[in-house]
Amino acid sequence: MYDTICNIDMKKFIFDRLVDRENICNLEKERQQLTAHINNKANVVVFAPRNYGKTSLLKNIVIDDFKKRNKKSFVFFTDLLGVKDLSSIIARLIGAFEHSFTESFPVKHIMEDLKTFLSNLQPTVSIDSITGSPSISLGISPRNREYSIQYVFALIQDISKKIPTLIVIDEFQDIAAIDEAQALFRTSFQEVDNIPIILMGSKRHILHNIFSKADAPLASWGIDIEIPPIPYAEYSEYIHERFVSYGLKLDNELSIYLQNLLYRVPESINIVCQQIIELFSNRELSKDDIHQALKVAIENRERRYESALLMYSKVEETVLIQLAKSGQIEKPQSIAFLEKVSLSNRTVGKCFVRFMDLGIIEKVDAAYRISNPLFGFYLKWYR
Ligand SMILES: Nc1ncnc2c1ncn2[C@@H]1O[C@H](COP(=O)(O)OP(=O)(O)O)[C@@H](O)[C@H]1O
Ligand SMILES: [Mg+2]
Repeated sequence: MYDTICNIDMKKFIFDRLVDRENICNLEKERQQLTAHINNKANVVVFAPRNYGKTSLLKNIVIDDFKKRNKKSFVFFTDLLGVKDLSSIIARLIGAFEHSFTESFPVKHIMEDLKTFLSNLQPTVSIDSITGSPSISLGISPRNREYSIQYVFALIQDISKKIPTLIVIDEFQDIAAIDEAQALFRTSFQEVDNIPIILMGSKRHILHNIFSKADAPLASWGIDIEIPPIPYAEYSEYIHERFVSYGLKLDNELSIYLQNLLYRVPESINIVCQQIIELFSNRELSKDDIHQALKVAIENRERRYESALLMYSKVEETVLIQLAKSGQIEKPQSIAFLEKVSLSNRTVGKCFVRFMDLGIIEKVDAAYRISNPLFGFYLKWYR
């Protein structure tokens, strides 16, 4: 009995952070594929739009399994979100290397491991006085020209000669706009061998430019894995498992309605479902209940959405709001859309390119829409 209560207790709708193993819905096929590729030391590019569970799958399941399979291992993980130039990429890689080192090796042996693996450097270790956890510093400066992208990969290569190693780079597409970065990564990836490399990205058009354009440095690099939306039935079951302890019932048709309303984006579905739990109990849910929960969830986030809007010019704001009001559009430069925003063809085109690059809007099945469905509803209803 106690066990059952514990299990129910652990099932939650998670948002605003990574999903733990217990609460990740589906993605079993992707887990298996990734594990097989890692075992084959293959290179992989994982694509899914934002909030589809990529980082959770990698960090909380795939990497975790890799560490469990190998008694001693080294996992290099970094996130290149928002890197601006080469030196910020190098700084990110060095920081990630230092962090990955302390994550991969137990505190007890860290001094020994530093000597074993980084004998050519003079790293320093400091222990956080409150948490007692160590952090290392390689003592190298990203501004120093001799420390390059290749340098970091050479360090990883050294370690990989002694223990199983895995490289994972999240939001890799953000290197696209930086001169030479693609070519430098290509050289680095060629120089490391026998290490599986997993790159992840959330902006399809940029990943396409990096990996599919014939003349791009990384053209045809790696095996593609695209995470599709979670099947309706699986998510319905996931919702049901969490609603049942509150006496909430959502019939199948309405569950599909809810998933579609939120463009099948897991995070938005979780937010609205959690709101349903906070608003209602012991009832069969109606469409109105779903709409009410959606409204409350959005109202709770009004400040967040308003400050997000501050990042854009008046013109961009107009275009974004009109896109939200239209829902999805295939041709942003159609006369109908241009008339609604009273802007030129050129201006609207530029806004769409910028929003696509920022990941604020997405193109799915030939139609553009706002990536975050809740933000979209906010703009549609409140602006
Ligand atoms: N498979 C899933 N099961 C449950 N929730 C998910 C799943 N995938 C994504 N989410 C939701 O998306 C949020 C973001 O997950 P994350 O792993 O950061 O996605 P990504 O890296 O693709 O942007 C989570 O907090 C959770 O709300
Ligand atoms: Mg992510």
